[in-house]
This record gives sequence, structure tokens and C-alpha cells, in this order.
Amino acid sequence: MKNNFNLDIPHEISALRRFSALATPKCINLGLGKPFEDMPNSLRTLASQVIKNKNLAMDYSDNAGIVSVRTLLEQRYELPSGSTILTHGAQEALFAALMAILNPGDEVLCPDPGFVAYETMAQVLHAKAKTYLLQRHQNGAFSYCLEQISKKVTKKTKVIILNAPGNPTASVVSKKFVKQLANQFPHITILSDEVYAELSFTQPYIPFAVAAKNIVSINAFSKSHALTGWRLGWLCAADRSLYNRILVAHQYVATCASVPAQHLLGAMLRHPTIFDSLKLQYRQAYLLRRDTFFNAFKTSVPKPEAGFFAFLPIPKTQSSSLGFAKKLLKEKNILVIPGEFFGKQGQRFVRVSYANSIEQLKLAGKKLATYY
Ligand SMILES: Cc1ncc(COP(=O)(O)O)c(C=O)c1O
Repeated sequence: MKNNFNLDIPHEISALRRFSALATPKCINLGLGKPFEDMPNSLRTLASQVIKNKNLAMDYSDNAGIVSVRTLLEQRYELPSGSTILTHGAQEALFAALMAILNPGDEVLCPDPGFVAYETMAQVLHAKAKTYLLQRHQNGAFSYCLEQISKKVTKKTKVIILNAPGNPTASVVSKKFVKQLANQFPHITILSDEVYAELSFTQPYIPFAVAAKNIVSINAFSKSHALTGWRLGWLCAADRSLYNRILVAHQYVATCASVPAQHLLGAMLRHPTIFDSLKLQYRQAYLLRRDTFFNAFKTSVPKPEAGFFAFLPIPKTQSSSLGFAKKLLKEKNILVIPGEFFGKQGQRFVRVSYANSIEQLKLAGKKLATYY
């Protein structure tokens, strides 16, 4: 039977997931890539109103999503009219976009260190994932570098993936940077994964798709509004032919985004006080958590400017990120994610999520500091 399967689909779920499964109920889990709280009460109330409202149809919607909801979204983020598709989380948006663009053998450039799913998605579509290096600085920070990306571009490159603020590095990029990249490679699609951008502590969120026609913005309400399980994402492609291709791919992958989730989004966007105050509230909560952790840990590593991940160099005495992560789990009951899961450049780092309680973060920071 084995040979009948798609050989480019990995045989197992990701190493990250398997390592995360080692968490016990009593451990301090700094491995999770999700918000520190479940769906907020204000959204539960809104969602129950949506479900009870018999005027809202709950059957299939247009493939791109309910027009009135998309219009509200486009107005909210000042996106061209008719340029968005509502998706089953950011994950499906990424997959549909890649599926629409890639032919077997095409190349996709992915950041190292970077989110593990990009390479696998390209591989599943029989394309070739190649990595480009984020620039590594003395103080342990990483940043996007135009030169590093440019030197990996070949005639076969169809897509360059950017993820800023990044998972796991929290690296950010400016609109100028993305525009320059898009202009330098007008025949390549820049897939901009912006799922942490609403949680920036320094910059307002502007989807990069507005900067050039070959940029596709991908986002979701999973992190910014703690709606991971609702699977509510979106993408924006201003180029009409690209948009149409992605829409067809999306139709065959998902038909449409979950309709109750789409109605919830509509209700959120009609209540800007809820939509915006939640975002702000979470941003402040992560800032507080970041500072609590860094104050307890006392490190010279620069603080992340967004999101809820810190990518920390492992102590000099440790030989590998996996070894150090296992040691932390065994000796201190703290779960962090080995940086090597995110690429070659992550070999001497661990990813720490500060999406956790203030008490746990204080304790974890102190315990971690004893190794440095
Ligand atoms: C960088 C990045 N992109 C995309 C996703 C997927 O987001 P969603 O849950 O909305 O599908 C994640 C989730 O962890 C992520 O970290």
C-alpha cells in the first residue's frame, strides 16, 4: 500500500508537534503557539447572537466568502474592493495560494529560521522548498536581508515567503523592504504571512498586499483575537488573475470558510469597539508578559517587538537545542521548542512562548536564568 500514497507527504506529524506532546499537566508549557486564553467572553456573546439570528443563512456561502463580510474587512484594512478571500485559517490560505501558483519542480523560498509548514506545503505540491537565511546578529536577533533572499532566486523561483513578525524569530520588516523586494522580482509572488502583525508593539498593521500587485497578504484572527479553533483567516491578492486562480484552489480545498465563523467576523467588524479593543487588550497583555519574562530571565537578548515568541540562544555549555530542551523538561519541568525544528540556523536557539500566565512566566524566567 505504501507506494500508493503521495510520497511527498511526511510520514509523521511535525517534530514540533511531537515534542509539544511531551508536555505534562504540571509542566510550565512555553511551547504553545497559541494565545494564553481561550475565546474571549465578548466574542462568545457575539457568536451566540449570530447563531440565534435566524436571518443569517448558515448554508454554503460564496466561495470567496459572504460579500458583506468581505466588504467590511476590505474597508477596515483599506484593501481594494473584491481582493479578499475568507479562508479556513491562515494555514488554508497559504496552501490555496501555493496550490494556485506552483507546478512540480518550481521553487519556493522560505525563511531559515522559519515556520515549519511552508516547506512541507511546497513539498506536498511537488515543488522544491529552498531556504534563505535571516541575518543573524551578535546579540542573538535575526533580521530579513534583501541580499540573502536575492541570492537564492533562480529562474525556477515562483514564490518568496515572508513572515513578519516571524515565527519563531519575531523579526519584522518595513513596507519599504517588501516593496523593494516585490519590485526587484515582479514575476515572483511574495507570499506575506502576517498572522502576528496585529500583535506588533511598535507598528500599526498595514497589509503588505497594498504595496505591490505581486504581494499576497495572508492573515487570520487566530492570534490577534484568540480565535484559533474558529479557523477564520483571509487573504488579499490585488492582481485579478492571481486572485481568480487562488479562488479556484480555495474552492477545491475548502468550498468556503466556515459560515458561522464568517458571520462572527461580520459581527466583530460591525462592533469596532469590540474588534479594536480586543486587539489592543491582547497587545498590552503580551507586552506585559514579554517584559515579565525578560525581567525574570535577565538576558541581553533584545526583546521581541511583536507577537508572543522569543527566540533565545542556548547556553554556551549546551551542545544542541534539542538536548537543552530535553534537559529543561527533565530538570525544571519547563517545555520550550528546540530551535533546530525551525531550520539550520535555529540549532543553537530555543523558542519560548510567553503566551502564559504572569506567575508561570516569572517562575520560568528565574529557572531558565540558572543555566546562563
Ligand atoms: C507563522 C504562522 N503562519 C500561519 C499559522 C497558521 O495560522 P492559523 O491557525 O490561522 O491557520 C501559524 C500558526 O501557528 C503561524 O505561526
